[in-house]
Order: sequence, then C-alpha cells, then structure tokens
Amino acid sequence: MTYIERMKEKVQDIRKQKDVLILAIESSCDETSVAVVKNGRQVLSNIISSQIEIHRHFGGVVPEVASRNHILNIIPLVEQALTSAKLTLNDIDAIGVTQGAGLVGALLVGLTTAKALAYALDKPLIAVNHIKGHIAANYIAFPELEPPFMCLITSGGHTAIVKVEDYNKLTKIGSTQDDAIGEAYDKVARILGLEYPGGVKIDKLAQGVEPKIKFTHNDTLANSYDVSYSGLKTAVINYVHKLEQNGEKLDVPQIAASFQHQAITMITEKVIRACKEFKQNKLVLAGGVAANSYLRATLTKLCKENNIELYFPPLEFCTDNAAMIGSVAYYQLMQEDPADLNISALPSIEIK
Ligand code: KG4
Ligand code: ZN
Repeated sequence: MTYIERMKEKVQDIRKQKDVLILAIESSCDETSVAVVKNGRQVLSNIISSQIEIHRHFGGVVPEVASRNHILNIIPLVEQALTSAKLTLNDIDAIGVTQGAGLVGALLVGLTTAKALAYALDKPLIAVNHIKGHIAANYIAFPELEPPFMCLITSGGHTAIVKVEDYNKLTKIGSTQDDAIGEAYDKVARILGLEYPGGVKIDKLAQGVEPKIKFTHNDTLANSYDVSYSGLKTAVINYVHKLEQNGEKLDVPQIAASFQHQAITMITEKVIRACKEFKQNKLVLAGGVAANSYLRATLTKLCKENNIELYFPPLEFCTDNAAMIGSVAYYQLMQEDPADLNISALPSIEIK
C-alpha cells in the first residue's frame, strides 16, 4: 500500500475519534510558527517567531533571508510547541501545513518539514490555504461562530469579499483588481518614510487626524464588489513627489489619515452592500489588516447601523500564526482527502 492509500484509510479512523490533535506549521512570509490545535478550535500551543527585527533593516521582507531564518527556527519551534502542549509527536493525529500563498522559499521550509514529519510518523498531511487560515482565526476566537457568513479578507497579499458557505466551501463575491490593501498600506508607508512594517505605522499616525485630502475621485468599480488599490496608491505617491519637488513639508499624519480613510471606505461600503444583497447578518474580518483600528471602528459603526453581527480576531490572531492553520487542517481532515507527499508549494494560490 502506498503512503497516500494508507492515509486515506487512516483519516477514516481519525474522524471517529473523540479528540483530534493537529500539529500545524506556518512559514509563508516572515513569521515561523508551530501550533498544536485540538478539534479545530482549542489551541494547546501556538509558538510564533517573528522576523520583523531582521527585515526592518532592509525596509521589507527579503525572501532569501526569510527562508534561511525559517530553516533555523522550524525544528526548535516544533519541539517547543509540543513541550508547551505537554505532548509528544506520537500523540499527534495529523500534520497541517501552509501550502500557499506566500514566498516560495519560505513556504518550502514549512512544507518540507511537514512532509518529513508526516512520512516519518506515517501520519496524514493536510495542505492548507493561508487565507483560509486567516478566516479560521475567528473560529479560534469565537467558539460559537459557524458558517455561513460573509467575510472580508484584508491581508498583505489578498483583498476579497467572500461568502463562507461552509468550512470548506467559499464563494468569491468580489476582490481587488490589482494591489492588495495591505500591500497599498506598506507601499504608502514606504513613500512616507515610515519603517517596515508600514501598515501598523499608518494606523498609529492617523489616529485622531481628520482626513482632508481626496487622492482619487471616482470609483470606476463603484457598482461592483471589486476594488482597486493601485490608483489610490499611485495618487498618494504622485502627491508626495509633487510636494517634495516643490520643497514643501509633508504633513505625514494627514496623508496617512486621508489614504487610510479612502482605502477603508472603498471596501467597507461594498462589504456591507454584499451582506445585504446576499442576506448575511454575520460579517467576519480576516487577514493582517483586520488589526487596523480604523477598519474595526468603521465596520463596528456600519454593522450596528445595519443590524449585522461583526466578528474580528484579537490582535494576536490577526498576524500570521500556525494555530489558524491547525483549525483549517482539522475541518479539511474531517471532510476531504489528505495530501500526498509530492505536493508543491503554491506561492500564488487563490481563494476558492
Ligand atoms: O494577512 P497578512 O499576514 O498578509 C498575508 O497573509 O498576505 O498581513 C500582513 C499585512 C501587511 O501588509 C501589514 O502592513 C498589514 O497586514 N497590517 C496592517 C496593520 N497591521 C498589519 N495594515 C494596516 N493597519 C494595521 N494595524
Ligand atoms: Zn497572513
């Protein structure tokens, strides 16, 4: 019997168990993380090693540096996650791992480690989409939350409005036509001379500042659920260059607040419209930008006005972590076939 044939049989037995323990690995960008998650919702350990300080010197994530640091971190983190959960590898039922999206070299470190563990232990391998992980961060934070619900994904690599029909079934309602919102935050931060990671710096600088500059005028996608951030980003860059050429001083907090106001207004209006059209009274926020205070405040107000229940993860679960990957892996294991050992990293995997 081949490995995958054995695993397909094994998952049938695991599904009947009272408790299912997943060891999950995340290494898609600049955080190495390993977690142990019980039954998709209970986090027994979630160890995160952030590389922010390393990449800060370069003004952004350097892929090769990220991969090298994942290699240094990954095995000690597996050991720490198990020790902290008071378990050994033998207690684990399956290995969950981020397959994509992300930086290919970074993903390969986690994926190769997960494959090696799965093969050596003869346990199922569950390949997880990172964006589904960000959605699942909410399952960990809110034990009562169940699909269906509307979801706003705002991350460094993705921006989309998605209807979560079931744990393993998503329907895309709209998405960005170009840059992701987090990417736009980071690029605007860079042009404003703010340190990496820029999104959180813009958030802080903009607090309490009333936005006055209108960078772009009409939203050509106004009637759809799609958005575009490239035009807004370019408008901010042009505005900054023009002032610099004229030797004028930049009002950085004002530029930050005005950019943020436009970036957030564009997507929040659409997601509320989508909730109404698709008759969803639950809205879930997912992705790194879900940490943004202006996004949280804007949606809190709009959801209250429209009788929509709003869920967003606590800050520690907005950033990349393996617990959210362990949650997705559990729901996949319960319904879908495990992965074979020949799978590749998928740097640009989309939301399905
Ligand atoms: O979701 P994430 O891990 O990226 C992907 O998985 O693609 O989130 C990282 C992104 C970065 O672009 C970062 O600048 C942004 O989330 N971010 C924020 C805030 N905190 C993180 N953007 C705006 N305001 C924040 N407070
Ligand atoms: Zn992420």
